[in-house]
Amino acid sequence: MLIYLRMSKAKKEYKRITVKSLLDMKMDGEKISMLTAYDFTTATIVDISGIDIILVGDSASNVIAGHETTLPITLDQMIYHASGVIRAVKRALVVVDLPFGSYQSDPKGALKSAIRIMKESGSHAVKLEGGKEIKDSIKRIIKAGIPVMGHLGLTPQSIYKFGTYTVRAKEEEEAKQLIEDAIMLEKIGCFAIVLEKVPSDLAAKVTKKVKIPVIGIGAGNKVDGQVLVIHDMLGMTKEFNPRFLRRYMNLYDDMNKAISKYSKDVKSGNFPNSKEQY
Ligand code: KIV
Repeated sequence: MLIYLRMSKAKKEYKRITVKSLLDMKMDGEKISMLTAYDFTTATIVDISGIDIILVGDSASNVIAGHETTLPITLDQMIYHASGVIRAVKRALVVVDLPFGSYQSDPKGALKSAIRIMKESGSHAVKLEGGKEIKDSIKRIIKAGIPVMGHLGLTPQSIYKFGTYTVRAKEEEEAKQLIEDAIMLEKIGCFAIVLEKVPSDLAAKVTKKVKIPVIGIGAGNKVDGQVLVIHDMLGMTKEFNPRFLRRYMNLYDDMNKAISKYSKDVKSGNFPNSKEQY
């Protein structure tokens, strides 16, 4: 009977995703889908496709601006991207990365940056990378009523400290610290945590220990949800091939074919034809 009830339980319909919906999803065992977007047109498609959280990630620094790291992107640029995304979105929760340099110096500065994002883009929440070293900044932002998503494990804004993008927290000491940080983030009021590139057993442990949703990227499938960078999962990027990445399309080649054909058609005079003009 119990099994029958569990199986027949209808999936809840969420008209609008809030931080509360995400907690409900974790409680109900419903996985959370999260994907990046950085502009209006893409965010429109991501939103109607049913993604729960749209992340305006500082990965825009890589996939939009072509930088090697996420460090150069500015607060103004993040606000510009987020403003386009928010104009498109009707259902998803929109989370925006606080970029490198906009929150590390002190809690007051961190709050100022978070307020600019919320006020100037109209987004719903912010994400910050790090654990105990940014605890006071996170507390200050949450106290102002701004929802915060944490980000632990591989934190790309600290790439020059790590020196490499390999899997984090394989050693016991770092794994212990990561668990402590996750518990701390929950305690001070974060509504969710992104766990990037850590062993799946560790991610599973963290997911069990905290009541808030844990969203993984390269963290296995025993977490509450998954996030990917949209350019990677659509196959627009060719060089980036981590084990955790599943490509759902091969847009690099498809776009290349389409654009080459267009170029040939223009040069041959085939485009526009008689029906494609006034
Ligand atoms: O900036 C980003 O896209 C991210 C995800 C990889 C989680 O932080």
